[in-house]
Amino acid sequence: MGHILQKLSCVVGVVFAVVIVFQYFEFPYGDVISSLFSASKIQITETGSYPPEKSYPFPQILADIPHGAEGTEPTDVHDKGIGTTYKGHDAHIRKDTRKKELDDSIDLRGNGVSGNQVVEKQNFKEHKASLRGIVPLANVSSVKEVSCKKQKRNVVSISDMYNILVHNRASSHSMKPRWPSRADQQLLEAKLQIGNAQFNEEDHNLYPSVFRNISIFRRSYELMEKTLKVYIYKEGDKPIFNQPERVLKGIYASEGWFMMQMKASKRFVTRKPKEAHLFYIPYSSKMLKATLSPNSYDRESVVPYLKNYLDMISGRYSFWNRTSGADHFLVACHDWGADETRQFMGTCIRAICNTDVEKAGFQLGKDASLPETNVRHPENPLRNLGGKLPSKRSVFAFFAGKMHGYLRPILLQHWENKDPDMKIFRRLPKMKDDKNYVEYMKSSKFCICAKGSEVNSPRVVEAIFYECVPVIISDNFVPPFFEVLDWESFAVFIQEKDIPNLKNILVSIPKKRYLAMHERVKQVQQHFLWHSKPIKYDIFHMILHSIWYNRVFRVNP
Ligand SMILES: *[C@@H]1O[C@H](CO)[C@@H](O)[C@H](O)[C@H]1NC(C)=O
Repeated sequence: MGHILQKLSCVVGVVFAVVIVFQYFEFPYGDVISSLFSASKIQITETGSYPPEKSYPFPQILADIPHGAEGTEPTDVHDKGIGTTYKGHDAHIRKDTRKKELDDSIDLRGNGVSGNQVVEKQNFKEHKASLRGIVPLANVSSVKEVSCKKQKRNVVSISDMYNILVHNRASSHSMKPRWPSRADQQLLEAKLQIGNAQFNEEDHNLYPSVFRNISIFRRSYELMEKTLKVYIYKEGDKPIFNQPERVLKGIYASEGWFMMQMKASKRFVTRKPKEAHLFYIPYSSKMLKATLSPNSYDRESVVPYLKNYLDMISGRYSFWNRTSGADHFLVACHDWGADETRQFMGTCIRAICNTDVEKAGFQLGKDASLPETNVRHPENPLRNLGGKLPSKRSVFAFFAGKMHGYLRPILLQHWENKDPDMKIFRRLPKMKDDKNYVEYMKSSKFCICAKGSEVNSPRVVEAIFYECVPVIISDNFVPPFFEVLDWESFAVFIQEKDIPNLKNILVSIPKKRYLAMHERVKQVQQHFLWHSKPIKYDIFHMILHSIWYNRVFRVNP
């Protein structure tokens, strides 16, 4: 039996090698073929995602940690209550990829044009290779051998993701518009200015250490404030469209809050679509589910519903057809948002919470990672903000949640009741306002954010809200505002396969580095906060910025 399996895996390996050749040369259908295989997650290159600076033998950080926070009552975690069942795969949308010289790329890490471009060029081959495991032809035979020995999940590290992003920026643009617009011209001018951003005077409200490149972010943000106009479609039946009030609480609240604040924005909204740089499709993935498909994922009802909507607006107005949707965007936080929009809205900029770099057609550089925020108090989203000083954080590592998905049972199997420093729980008993769950978050050094049914977890933003260093265990999860934030400066990323080593890895982080990360969690916090009225650099503006930023870099004259 084992023999047969091994043979079978070799066959898979060979077929996969063919897929790679297709992909590498960008043959038509390469994407289609690879999408058929993406589910099988065959590993080619092993890429480590957690590079601790050094391996330190058990340092002092543990010494001052008493054994747990007994006396605190565990509490419930609002979470994705429904198991998601995806029914098969639809035809993969061909990515709108154009070959383009890398020389045209603007290096997003350096200050405008810099020596980095040269490095970029040298690394081009490797960047390409890291694209979803694409390897040069010469390596194909060895790939086959590797996959015959052992099959592993292809893990795309944070730095690999960034390489893909840079590569996509340089090589893929949206389609050429059917006719030009003044708005596009303004975006092209903005792109030039962002590329030439120089380090200028500091803005004391921003912290450079949490950004990839603070100058580029600042310039882009300023230009957004000065330039951006958004047209919002009025069409669509409530409560699925245009009714944000229904989605202001709970873990999908990001889509409701964004819609509410976008519609209310005097600065950014225009009633003249000819002026618009972006067109917003104001739908709620949560209300779509609640209305049409309340139980399991019924693709046959939600996808045609969205398609009908699209047919309606593209028949009524010419805006969609002008760019085939490239200047349109949607904001969807429910798990299903990614899949239900991939087929007919795959050309739009999709700001979604469920951002698996290898699933549902998520495209780095086009789509944006929407923060999943668990809003407990819509009347005052800032209630309970903050947490204890590092020295007062008595719990070393904390997790609590329902057993969604395959990963959490593994986490529990290794760490439930195994070690007094590791407070790893199932769902905590329900309490008003999740009192003790929140208490744990405020009192822990590390907050474990393990994926549920899908890659995202509201814990990532919760940890930042309560000033706990997030420990993200969710392979291939693209974290929010990935384009601009330097996530590895304030969060720990641990591969799923390293769960048995979880404590060792965390313990090996030197105290100095931990304190720096904690400080940066506080510095980045403002970008993840909802305010009743939006303020500069808050989460509303950051979401809008990530959409703006992606459009600016993909606009095609
Ligand atoms: C946009 O294109 C679609 C499909 O080709 C077509 O049915 C529709 O009438 C077009 N819309 C407009 C406003 O011309």
